[in-house]
Amino acid sequence: MRFSSAYLLQILVASTSAQLLTLPKLFSQDTNTDTDRQAPLIMDPVGPAMPPTTKEPSSQQPPPAQGGVLISDVMGRDRSFNMFASFVRDVESVSRRLDDSSKNSTVLAPLNSAIEKLPGKPWEDPKDYSALGATAYDGDDGQERARRNIRRFVEAHVVPVSPWREREKTRSLLDGDKEIWWENKDGVMTLQPDGTEIQSVASRVGNGEVWVIKANEP
Ligand SMILES: *[C@@H]1O[C@H](CO)[C@@H](O)[C@H](O)[C@H]1NC(C)=O
Repeated sequence: MRFSSAYLLQILVASTSAQLLTLPKLFSQDTNTDTDRQAPLIMDPVGPAMPPTTKEPSSQQPPPAQGGVLISDVMGRDRSFNMFASFVRDVESVSRRLDDSSKNSTVLAPLNSAIEKLPGKPWEDPKDYSALGATAYDGDDGQERARRNIRRFVEAHVVPVSPWREREKTRSLLDGDKEIWWENKDGVMTLQPDGTEIQSVASRVGNGEVWVIKANEP
């Protein structure tokens, strides 16, 4: 089987600029709330020397906490989850939270590869298709539906707690979402109850952490 050129283009675009991968035009007016702005990287060399905790969700040494830097400053830096970062930029309430030094969060950023493995696009909801058919995302109403679905997807990947301790039950920002927690078994960290593997802690900054998560294995 040959890959279609559209598919290859998608991969190319994903690897070069997640910005282009957001819904064409749909969210373009939001892109100037660009959180990739060059924030001064204020390291805190005199911060308290915290002993490394033994329960970090990574087999590697997590990056040291960076005081003064916010999640919003670091979300766009890592290409491996830049699709998710661009979705976050399209959701103003969540972008604002990640830019707020008084609100801690743990961001569960799916790898681009995990988003590509989803059965549908994050802005699609099978319920919309069954109710409205193939044109579910056409027109202004369709754009509104897509926007809402992206918002739900992003909210479901942000936990309003950090530090988030092992087995501490909490809920994502998504209204009515189920309880989730994480655990470490033999050095493999997983989100529960779904078992999604946490690959690493990408960043630890003043208002929380960014964790990178893999696709759910069926
Ligand atoms: C927020 O996160 C910072 C950095 O990890 C931590 O020092 C602080 O105690 C946290 N605040 C709350 C309310 O959890």
